[in-house]
Amino acid sequence: MSRLVVVSNRVAPIDEGKQAAGGLAVAVLAALKKTGGIWFGWSGNVVEGESQDEPRRTDVGRLTYATLDLGRRDFEEYYNGFANQTLWPLFHYRLGLIEVSRRTREGYKRVNGYFADRLAPLLRPDDMVWVHDYHLIPFGEELRQKGCQQRMGFFLHTPFPAPEVLSVLPNHRELIRELCAYDLVGFHTQVDLRCFANYIRFETNGEVEERADGSMLIRAFDRTLLARAFPISIDTANLESLAQTAARSRHTERLKESLVGRRLIIGVDRLDYSKGLPQRFQAFEQLLASYQEHCNRVSFLQVAPPSREDVPEYIAIRRELSELSGRINGRFAEFDWVPIRYLNKSFGRRVLAGFYRTANVGLVTPLRDGMNLVAKEYVACQDPDDPGVLVLSCFAGAARELGEALIVNPFDVEGVADALQRALIMPQGERKERHAAMMRTLRAHDIGWWRESYVDALTRAPYG
Ligand code: F6P
Repeated sequence: MSRLVVVSNRVAPIDEGKQAAGGLAVAVLAALKKTGGIWFGWSGNVVEGESQDEPRRTDVGRLTYATLDLGRRDFEEYYNGFANQTLWPLFHYRLGLIEVSRRTREGYKRVNGYFADRLAPLLRPDDMVWVHDYHLIPFGEELRQKGCQQRMGFFLHTPFPAPEVLSVLPNHRELIRELCAYDLVGFHTQVDLRCFANYIRFETNGEVEERADGSMLIRAFDRTLLARAFPISIDTANLESLAQTAARSRHTERLKESLVGRRLIIGVDRLDYSKGLPQRFQAFEQLLASYQEHCNRVSFLQVAPPSREDVPEYIAIRRELSELSGRINGRFAEFDWVPIRYLNKSFGRRVLAGFYRTANVGLVTPLRDGMNLVAKEYVACQDPDDPGVLVLSCFAGAARELGEALIVNPFDVEGVADALQRALIMPQGERKERHAAMMRTLRAHDIGWWRESYVDALTRAPYG
């Protein structure tokens, strides 16, 4: 079996004893442990001066972590700049927020080239290289230019935008040419895949051959590659059992005591403008205004750990949410009840599992999201005999699989308030039916299924 080499901007913490936090990290580690291999990426450290010259290598069994510190300028131009001020808003349809600059585009290319320079000497001819996310689109082409002929796959963790949106980016063709250097390109949903195929058809004169299994064979820029949807998922069985034990944990008990019999709505998101948090707060406000029976009877817990804190749009959204939660609480609070509990901090998986199980409603309303694993985690953590209700944005990739949730348009504040009302009064029988249907999907397509289908498809490359 070929060795797997995973490349991602962030690498899971290198600590054998400690369980990796997210499902993706767990999945990638499981794949790497099976085949042996390398996990290569940024160390998370920013240093003054130049980026680190030689990767820091740590061997854990058959797995090698190879990480690099980024110099301040590289970090600013590659991560804060092109990745998070150009591609992130562009891929999330937020054209008003994009910054376009040649300096950051060049910084992005430079860091990709610098990463590829450092990885190339570590590769063996039979390796399979699996590159993750929008930070690293040019990485494959950079490796190919250095003569690397290994099988190379890419997986995009964000949405892929419609061609009309993508074409706002100067030199968009160059970015897509870079993407076509891979043998396999994976997206979360058929919608993303179709957007990519349409770009190939209408902007490059390339050819798209649709295959019976829904994948597409792409011929463009003198290359042939396979593009396919691989919806990422969660470790369903693990979360189910985690939530069962967490239901009796100290944190869960404290949360329940603090509610004093009130119902709970929960939201958990990185503090990001793509998550639709202002509209979500307004929808909760609308619920209290339109359905006054919930005043002093329902609390909304929003966990929102700060993220990308140097980027101006993230500073602005943080300020906006503090003001909004303060205003709504000022309007509705009683001396013994605060409607919105808004927390700028993160919690571990176990604590969150207990919180999800306690909450009567999971409120997941991004304006645009690649998949959204919180939606899936919320469902997996429910008590099957008395489950809560998921209210889910139609613009989250997860809505394609979890059609039994209450699907809402996150821009429609009154519509979301009505869905919250419906969730809060939904009879137990209906809640159980919807939950059971979603669990069937999550058990059939868990994170192991995602990883294996991707790696299996990459093993079959090249597709030319
Ligand atoms: O959604 C894309 C993504 O890369 C996720 O996989 C990840 O949770 C998030 O963005 C991380 O953002 P950052 O590395 O900037 O903190």
